[in-house]
Amino acid sequence: MKFTLKKKTKVSSEASVIDVPTLSVPEHVAIIMDGNGRWAKRRGLPRAAGHRAGADSVRKAVESCSALGVKFLTLYAFSSENWNRPQKEVETLMGLLENFLKDKTPEMMKDNVRLQAIGRLDMLPDHVRAALDKAIVETAGNTGVTMNLALSYGGREEIVDATKRLVEKATLGEITADDVDNTSFANEIYTAGMPDPCLLIRTSGEQRLSNFLLWQLSYAEIVITEKLWPDFRHDDFLAALSEYTKRDRRFGKV
Ligand code: IPE
Ligand code: IPE
Ligand code: MG
Repeated sequence: MKFTLKKKTKVSSEASVIDVPTLSVPEHVAIIMDGNGRWAKRRGLPRAAGHRAGADSVRKAVESCSALGVKFLTLYAFSSENWNRPQKEVETLMGLLENFLKDKTPEMMKDNVRLQAIGRLDMLPDHVRAALDKAIVETAGNTGVTMNLALSYGGREEIVDATKRLVEKATLGEITADDVDNTSFANEIYTAGMPDPCLLIRTSGEQRLSNFLLWQLSYAEIVITEKLWPDFRHDDFLAALSEYTKRDRRFGKV
């Protein structure tokens, strides 16, 4: 992965000219990487080809974050519900994930990218879990973009897991009901220690959260693009930031 992208002053996207230096850049961006299957179908290719092509977009998105100053990028790579896909597709996705982790770790080291993961990681096959743990340990000291992969991830499952931890603490007498508030709850979710994402991008036009970061996205701006994930590039990232910059974030005030 090479971070040679320049913060070009003016970039023309489909709809307008984007003045890059005036963009608001969130510290944390989350992306629902959707549309791999449709990308493949349009080309008469198997769905696996779409998932493979999607891996290139991951690299590009991290490059964009690095060039623009986004510190955390959380990518929805495999949901709790995706376990219900045909076994063959699940196996293909797990194989691609393992290869991605093995192939990309040297690039992540070179580019100062830190890898993290959220989700019920114990449900991943052993070979994937081993590759994931290895990549996380190897990149732990990197200080550039944190690429946070949501794997076997579900927002409801995360809330349930956090609740269980709070109940365990209460059972041990470490906390009482009065200690449960937004802050103590946020300390138990998978993203504890990370700022909440202020921008959610979903590719391929679908207008739903699909069980993604339900707690963290409570006040995020949502930008939906028709682009399929394997076609998502730097200019699409800029277009999403441009849209985000135009939003009036009121947080319940007037
Ligand atoms: C996103 O692409 C990748 C995963 C959910 C793992 P899809 O596989 O959902 O692609 P579409 O939505 O069928 O086009
Ligand atoms: C959401 O996409 C999950 C990921 C991108 C990993 P899906 O394609 O699984 O979502 P639905 O089924 O359209 O809601
Ligand atoms: Mg999909």
